[in-house]
Amino acid sequence: MKDAAAEMTQETIYLEDYTPFGFVVEEVHLTFLLDPGATRVKSKISFAPNPDATDKTFFLHGEDLKLISAKINGKPVTADVTAQGLTCSVPTKPFVWESEVEIAPDKNTALEGLYMSNGMYCTQCEAEGFRKITYYPDRPDVMSTFTVRIEGPHNVLLSNGNPEKSGKNWAEWHDPWPKPSYLFALVAGELVNFPGSFRTCSGNKVELNIWVRPGDENKCAFGMEALKKSMRWDEEVYGREYDLDVFNIVAVDDFNMGAMENKGLNVFNSSCVLASPETSTDANFERIEAIIAHEYFHNWTGNRITCRDWFQLCLKEGLTVFRDSQFTSDMRSAPVKRIGDVMDLRGRQFPEDQGPLSHPVRPESFQEINNFYTATVYEKGAEVIGMLKRLVGDEGYAEALELYFARHDGQACTIENWLKVFEDVTGRDLSQFKRWYSQSGTPRLAVDEAYADGTYTLTFRQKTPPTPGQDEKLPQVLPIAVGLLNDNGDEVVETTLLEMTEAEQSFEFKGLSGKPVPSILRGFSAPVVLERASTHAERAFLLAHDTDPFNRWEVSYNLARDGLVAMVRDGAGPDLAWIDALAQVIRDDTLDPAFRELMLNGPSQSELAQVLFEAGTTPDPDAIWQASETLKQAMAERWSAFLPSLAEAAKVTDDYTPDAEQVGKRALGAAVLSLQTRLDGGAAAQAQFSGADNMTLQLSALSCLIRAGQETDALAAFEEQWQGDRLVMDKWFGLQIGATAPVNAAARAEALTGHAAFDWKNPNRFRAVFGALAMNHAGFHRKDGKGYALLADALIRLDAMNPQTTARMCSAFQTWRRYDADRQALMQAALERIAGQPNLSRDTTEMVSRILG
Ligand code: TRP
Ligand code: ZN
Repeated sequence: MKDAAAEMTQETIYLEDYTPFGFVVEEVHLTFLLDPGATRVKSKISFAPNPDATDKTFFLHGEDLKLISAKINGKPVTADVTAQGLTCSVPTKPFVWESEVEIAPDKNTALEGLYMSNGMYCTQCEAEGFRKITYYPDRPDVMSTFTVRIEGPHNVLLSNGNPEKSGKNWAEWHDPWPKPSYLFALVAGELVNFPGSFRTCSGNKVELNIWVRPGDENKCAFGMEALKKSMRWDEEVYGREYDLDVFNIVAVDDFNMGAMENKGLNVFNSSCVLASPETSTDANFERIEAIIAHEYFHNWTGNRITCRDWFQLCLKEGLTVFRDSQFTSDMRSAPVKRIGDVMDLRGRQFPEDQGPLSHPVRPESFQEINNFYTATVYEKGAEVIGMLKRLVGDEGYAEALELYFARHDGQACTIENWLKVFEDVTGRDLSQFKRWYSQSGTPRLAVDEAYADGTYTLTFRQKTPPTPGQDEKLPQVLPIAVGLLNDNGDEVVETTLLEMTEAEQSFEFKGLSGKPVPSILRGFSAPVVLERASTHAERAFLLAHDTDPFNRWEVSYNLARDGLVAMVRDGAGPDLAWIDALAQVIRDDTLDPAFRELMLNGPSQSELAQVLFEAGTTPDPDAIWQASETLKQAMAERWSAFLPSLAEAAKVTDDYTPDAEQVGKRALGAAVLSLQTRLDGGAAAQAQFSGADNMTLQLSALSCLIRAGQETDALAAFEEQWQGDRLVMDKWFGLQIGATAPVNAAARAEALTGHAAFDWKNPNRFRAVFGALAMNHAGFHRKDGKGYALLADALIRLDAMNPQTTARMCSAFQTWRRYDADRQALMQAALERIAGQPNLSRDTTEMVSRILG
């Protein structure tokens, strides 16, 4: 066992300890002499004392670097080198630092700093990877222009900014916009480009490129269109124009996350940019469009205006997620996007905020910042901006953003700077609103109603349960959107924004002719858990009449949830009244098929476990799985008469495009097929699988066949067809674990790690297998602990190669305290086994110790 003292030595960084760096950097010149095992990096950096800093210690970060030489003003100096960096005595006037270091990109399996992926060089510097490239003040508040020379025998040599000069085996780049080191990037390899161009609103021509390995050129067209749409949208909606002559995107197979917004040189996980109808699902296309937009939007929200320190991460991420969701709403369907976002928030952010990993949108301490690229910082961070916009209105928001860009361009900012522009523009005091950034946990909102003499009163009570390190919670500002309907289903009070600031607060609606039916928290106007015991009759009424699409969906979701709870806890049968009411909606072809499909989505099995846990019932994963199976079987049987015609109506006859209309139809078609499969033993799925000419249809059919236990031939055929395509093979690995019956999941995951195409070093492949295992709720939570043990073994093995991906996947255990004593003991043992490994990374050490609590 690792002893407590060893754990204690892991340093914690605090927001309140922030101090500026003692020096400013005026210019950076870098030269790379590329070599897989021994790359030389020469730096020439102009430093000057920082007048705003009191501490003038000259400390440069540097990790895993072999220092070859160091000079100040041309004279060799001796630096004091540790595993974290170096110090050196320096002049009190401006000076030039030069160093040469050696690094080994071919041994870099952590995929942070300069590494190799399938023969190409690439970098990942956010958050603190630049220090693995050269000695530097690797902190986001140190901004400088960069000039980069790359030497190497590769046909493509890329870095940030504009190309300056190039020749055989070398290229020089200059980025005129001062930036922090985390936005530095370099790419080199035998690549081909998919070209494009864009004319900005003021007439500048920008050269666009998507760089890929030969063979992938035919998967770039969609990404290129998404990029152009993003550029136009940011001009039209936010007034933001692109600011360099070129914009390059590179697709990389080995990547820890989705993509990275390096200035002028975005680097993407190939799964987040490459797409073709044959190899990508509709969901892939939508995600690619959103991620390309997200990274592009960072050019202003993140790059031109960056973060003072990593505690301010939500300043760029919350805002950029908010912007990309606005973009998707504009490109596709706003209600469908909103419902999807809320499903995602509940599926990923709520468990985080309601468990041992709960932290504020702006954390106040960390050991490893990579562990804070979370759903809370990103998605709750975006929700907080959505609330702010609701409170100040669209115009107030637009004015505030104008001021933000005007006032802070070129700066490294804080949440205080962000909120101040809203205060200055609107005259509002946002000090209470600011609690959204500091208080962790999901607020719970209870509501009572009263009606007398034409006055309807809603009384709300808010309460946030304690979270780690925060026992006492204060009331937050909650924007609560409410509409009122009369008995005929007419809207008598249109959507009105109530602004709740107290722990308990009442709002009156006067002059009504009868007691209305309320539609509360329309559009999910605040990220809270709404606790309201409404009657079946009221829900049925809202299901039929609510004009707010989100709340109409929410009613159905709540009915599904409560029905499943009754099945699991009380042994009730499926709620046939709900199934019949839902049939009306599903068959209503005046409604968007995408929306109808969403109406079929109740809570996930994991969400249901949380609901039961909060209601005082220990969740049994097997019983939850059984209930959800029984419910779907009942739906299939009850709807058997109209499923074939629904399937027919959902067929797309035009050529494949991933636009909202076709996507909605295929989604509804897939839901119908999965119900039909419960009745026909897989016949319809088999037919769809054999005839599919796009990946969406092929994969939805394969998923049905797996669920029906009819997959052997289909899996073999699929593998035969797609063994040459890494991204498609990720789907093959994942689906047979994710869609299979819980009893098989762990054994399949284990067997697949022995498959010739399983690759421990590729995060996409690792996540395909182990992410799918963790998502198979009852499969992961097998009573005998096999799921837990298998994941723990895999995480231990991966940690030695890739701490960042290991640490992220530890969150599969974050809900461990929900379950029965036996399962808790098994999960605790798995976590302690990980914690006890010698040389465990800082990343994983922090995660496991937080989860254990
Ligand atoms: N800034 C990136 C984004 O949100 C995410 C990111 C942070 C990242 N660290 C990373 C991506 C490490 C890849 C690897 O778009
Ligand atoms: Zn981002």
